[in-house]
Amino acid sequence: MIPVKPHIAKRAHVHSLAHYEGLYRESIANPAGFWSTQAEALTWFHPPESVHQARIEEGEIAWFSGGKLNACYNCVDRHAETQPDKVAIVWAANEPGEYRKITYAELAREVGRMANVLKSHGVRRGDRVAIYLPMIPEVAFAMLACARIGAVHSVVFAGFSAEALRERILDADCAVVLTADEGLRGPKRIPLKETVDDAVEGLSVVRSVLVAKRTGAEVAMTPGRDYWLAEELAKERATCPVEWMDAEDPLFVLYTSGSTGKPKGVLHTTGGYMVYTAFTHRHVFDIHDDDVYFCAADAGWITGHSYIVYGPLANGTTTVMFESVPNYPDCGRYWQVVDDLEVSVFYTAPTAIRAVMRAGDEFVTRASRKSLRILGTVGEPINPEVWTWYHDVVGNGQAAVIDTWWQTETGGIMIAPLPGATPAKPGSATLPMFGIRPVLVDDEGTEIKGNGVSGNLCLAGSWPGQSRTILGDHQRFRSTYFTRFPGYYFTGDGCRRDEDGYYWITGRVDDVINVAGHRLGTAEIESALVAHEAAAEAAVVGFPHEIKGTGIYAFVIIRDDFSAEDPKALVGALRDQVRRVISPIATPDAIQIVSGLPKTRSGKIMRRILRQIAAGKTDDFGDISTLADPTIVEALIASSER
Ligand code: WT7
Repeated sequence: MIPVKPHIAKRAHVHSLAHYEGLYRESIANPAGFWSTQAEALTWFHPPESVHQARIEEGEIAWFSGGKLNACYNCVDRHAETQPDKVAIVWAANEPGEYRKITYAELAREVGRMANVLKSHGVRRGDRVAIYLPMIPEVAFAMLACARIGAVHSVVFAGFSAEALRERILDADCAVVLTADEGLRGPKRIPLKETVDDAVEGLSVVRSVLVAKRTGAEVAMTPGRDYWLAEELAKERATCPVEWMDAEDPLFVLYTSGSTGKPKGVLHTTGGYMVYTAFTHRHVFDIHDDDVYFCAADAGWITGHSYIVYGPLANGTTTVMFESVPNYPDCGRYWQVVDDLEVSVFYTAPTAIRAVMRAGDEFVTRASRKSLRILGTVGEPINPEVWTWYHDVVGNGQAAVIDTWWQTETGGIMIAPLPGATPAKPGSATLPMFGIRPVLVDDEGTEIKGNGVSGNLCLAGSWPGQSRTILGDHQRFRSTYFTRFPGYYFTGDGCRRDEDGYYWITGRVDDVINVAGHRLGTAEIESALVAHEAAAEAAVVGFPHEIKGTGIYAFVIIRDDFSAEDPKALVGALRDQVRRVISPIATPDAIQIVSGLPKTRSGKIMRRILRQIAAGKTDDFGDISTLADPTIVEALIASSER
């Protein structure tokens, strides 16, 4: 147990474990009272008429109904009035030492102009806009501009392929796409406009493609469809009225992977999401007015939405936006940004910490890091050794390490220590956030009470940041989250609650894998593989990977009528296939060509056998008597890539 540091507790919003426990009990006993108080942190055009309604089994959830507000107003206008010269966003560009500081007053103008551009391109309240931008300030301007006029943004991570982008544009019916000529990620240039061209080719739904100039690379511009963003902005004034939205009006959709092949458009609404992200940002990172807060995520993921843009800006915080990668020009980059900007709160993923840790302590110790007070982590379980390194080396033993567990669907942080209150245990996300009731259930759905137990992690009741539906498929929303364990929201994670009531996430229990902090469905990768002419069938599993946490291992059966002269080239072609269909982040680390898969007599693939082979474990397969052909296991071991 790592005790709370007195110098952190002294100035913290929640300053002791007893303080946390008292507030937690209150939040559970009287959620309506608790959340209506938290909602007062936002500015409402019309206050909510009720706090909360939910019929969990139907996946019908509403918070702050009758309330009217605007997310952009809360993130921008009200701060531009009270603290116009405070820096809202510091953009840390790809090249070290290059920064752009944007005050709240400037942000108001940038967002207003952008909102007017969207309107001029026909975007109206309720319309969807696709954002496929690198980490440049325009990504935040665009998100906030959508929120301002009541449009629903769909940010697509700029590492996704043309096919993946096209699928998302179509699913959400986006008439406008924002992109850039190219993106920069360390030494690499990413041809974003080219990808968009492929994605929207022949799509009649897309009216306008607005292109930001990042590198000045020459790109093709289709007249009547493609516009330079800077030219469009120059035509507009900076003043744009806000649309007052109902608390339950959609704010954004964000696609994430599930157990089936098709990505889900997770929908978040305005009031509850804003209350929850502002509240959790303030408490989990113990935010004060003088903090410089740096979350190194990408805006294309929920972490970027909730904890680079909406949460921090709602709180009037200075938020850092990082365009580059942790190892450019070397593995000391994060700590250089920390020193340059005097960052007090830093938030990243275990995979990034592992990568820079491997490069050696010198990259850390050459920076002073004396401004750091809080070090957050998110996305996957953090190994206790990595946690300890983060704490001892990066934080000099002086900063609080905050392991935050949550999901795209939860909108905000659900389980995490509070810096001034919760003693830490390396590797545990510790205790639930106020108002959050984690429940462990066995495979039959019976609650497992008490401490020192493990089970499927569910959440009882609702919380304001909870996703409300899957865009265009509420039935899927219900069946994914609310039917396996009736009465609860099912997270898809396994979890242990230890003797002290601390939660330890043990990883996914469904067919979802977490690769370098990116969530991928194994079914998605399998469909990408079988779309190749050579592949008859594919099975994808995760295996322990030193840097990525989980690596991707694919077993592929080649079609009888396909003659592979060069097996190496074939494996390369299959890899490229996944890259092209999904994204480089989904590229398998290993592909094993096999003649058969371990199937039960009813035809179900026994994935645990594949996971074991992928992990390099070649004995003790347990009961394999239900396999249609048990000899297949030896054949698989013989041709294993491990
Ligand atoms: C899944 C959600 C939440 C933003 C980033 C990922 C895993 C997330 C932790 C953590 C252990 C974690 C879970 C979860 N996960 N945070 N602190 N410890 N596992 O969002 O893509 O929706 O993925 O990430 O497996 O279900 P996401």
